Amino acid sequence: MDQLFELPLTSWNQPMDSSRQELATDAIESGKVVFLPKLTFAFQEDEKKFLTPSWSNGAAKNISYDSASGKIQGMEGESADKLALAAMLQRYSDATSDLLATLFPRYKQALIRGRTSYRPVEIKGRTAKVTKDDTRLHPDQFPARPVQGRRIMRVFCNVNPHGKGRDWRMGEPFSGFAQKFFPRIKPPVPGALALQYLLRITRRPRTLYDHYMLHLHDMAKMDDQYQKTCTQIPFSFPAQCTWLCFTDEVLHAVDAGQYLMEQTYLLPVGAMRDPERSPLRVLERMSARPLV
Ligand code: SIN
Ligand code: FE
Repeated sequence: MDQLFELPLTSWNQPMDSSRQELATDAIESGKVVFLPKLTFAFQEDEKKFLTPSWSNGAAKNISYDSASGKIQGMEGESADKLALAAMLQRYSDATSDLLATLFPRYKQALIRGRTSYRPVEIKGRTAKVTKDDTRLHPDQFPARPVQGRRIMRVFCNVNPHGKGRDWRMGEPFSGFAQKFFPRIKPPVPGALALQYLLRITRRPRTLYDHYMLHLHDMAKMDDQYQKTCTQIPFSFPAQCTWLCFTDEVLHAVDAGQYLMEQTYLLPVGAMRDPERSPLRVLERMSARPLV
């Protein structure tokens, strides 16, 4: 399948030769999903109790963990259980860090580790308001945490213990998508981005790039016609496999699946082999001005 770049890695720190590292870098920078069908994340015996959705507190979409502070959010349970799940998420986070060092040594110094999440709730049948509904195709962006031009890379592992795949769809290339929606986005009202920061709606000030990307995210999800008619390719990521991509660029949607691990990274555009392929540069070319 054209959207996927497959590698037969079986461990998180398996050495790779430099020609393969270059191929993997080229694949991910050209908007492909790096698919590792033989790479799994093993739960320890005493961690298998976490394989039920009842650990989720129901308010947040996912249980999330911040390795910098050690804090876990969105989880129901005793503090001993929270410590145990945090330790498992830390192990996953460290495994993904080893993996990225193996796959993309070029990014190593520049990658910024973000949040880790555990998604034990079945996707199918879950309700959400349209702009939060990940069953609609979208590129990722974070409303409260502006990326200020940095790339978003995510490493997913389907840890479903019953052999159930995670059913994704992947959309058209980013530039064609952006060409359809970008011309309709109005620039921000003067002072609005600074005000959102002052009012603590955002953790950092949104840049023009954040403004445009958030609009692209919301417009894609809200456009029923686009959702129905755009090019989209379904793929079910099998249980016990791993995949990663730049989710700010790869249009994606999830229809079904339960029990997923996910680690987010940010990457400054300057660390890419070819920064011209970033959404930042794509949108800057369309608007003929700097956006950060
Ligand atoms: C998403 O990032 O849109 C959701 C992906 C997933 O949970 O499989
Ligand atoms: Fe997403």
